[in-house]
Amino acid sequence: MKSVASAPGKVILFGEHFVVYGISALLCSIDKRVIVTSQTTDEKMIKIESDIGHIEMSNNSLSIMNESTPKTMKPFLYIIKKTLERFKKDVGIEVKIESEISPGIGLGSSSACCVAAAASITALFEKLSREEILKLAIEAERTIFENTSGADCSVCTFGGLMEYDIKNGFKKINSKADFALVIANSKQTHQTSELVEKVRKFRENNEDLFASLCEQESALVQNALLALEKNDLSRLGLLMSENQAYLERIGVSTGTLDVFIKEAKKTAYGAKITGAGGGGCIIALTDKSNLNQTLANLKNCGECFTAKIDYRGLLDTF
Ligand code: MEV
Repeated sequence: MKSVASAPGKVILFGEHFVVYGISALLCSIDKRVIVTSQTTDEKMIKIESDIGHIEMSNNSLSIMNESTPKTMKPFLYIIKKTLERFKKDVGIEVKIESEISPGIGLGSSSACCVAAAASITALFEKLSREEILKLAIEAERTIFENTSGADCSVCTFGGLMEYDIKNGFKKINSKADFALVIANSKQTHQTSELVEKVRKFRENNEDLFASLCEQESALVQNALLALEKNDLSRLGLLMSENQAYLERIGVSTGTLDVFIKEAKKTAYGAKITGAGGGGCIIALTDKSNLNQTLANLKNCGECFTAKIDYRGLLDTF
């Protein structure tokens, strides 16, 4: 039995980090995917193969995952273990992960892996609903990043443009906003969990400032929703740049990313980091009128490419 699933990466347009503290974030999935192929074998061995590592172990060693288990493999091993338990199966599973998204750069590679793996592996035995797959994917991501808000896995599962908050989950945004994103990758990788921990400490030492930034971020997100509704890209871009100022304040931007943002803002409607920060990517908001010029401005800034919104989300065969 063989099963293939793919899930898109994502960008956060507004609200990263603040979303961990209950503020709404606005996200969209992008047209870059992770593809996971799984198959059952009679050998009772678990084999995982990906660009970021591989592992081979007997299926009865799954219950002894510990400190020495490679971190990058934990989410996949978790999904396999839960799936074999749920369907009461004693078989081997081979998993192959292929990705168009580099890891650790804020474009949702880890979440897309968890979502595509949860769909592909469970489908070997039964096709689950997207809601059930999302739940398993978030649990799997928590094996490496305990405090995830769940925002990234949600958008990688359902696709499109969405508002997300911890309490209410995701809500699709039906916007006709016609924009293109230019992404510049600093190639400085980060660990999301470390950046989230850094912000936790910042909050602990600056309680009043952080509370005030949360209030401002919340108002900004409401204004961004209105701008999206009216397809007012000038306004949306200004709000993105404002969001960047808050992210700089909490210490998740870097000198390199600040330079990229300055270059991008010469022609784009606005620009900011996306995801955890501390490296990774910036996104610049453009449309047909300023896309090429923004790409040209950023040509000396790391690896540069454009991304469109992916409206399909998780695909279980393709
Ligand atoms: C990471 O892409 C987004 C963060 O807000 C963490 C999270 O929401 O889990 C930094």
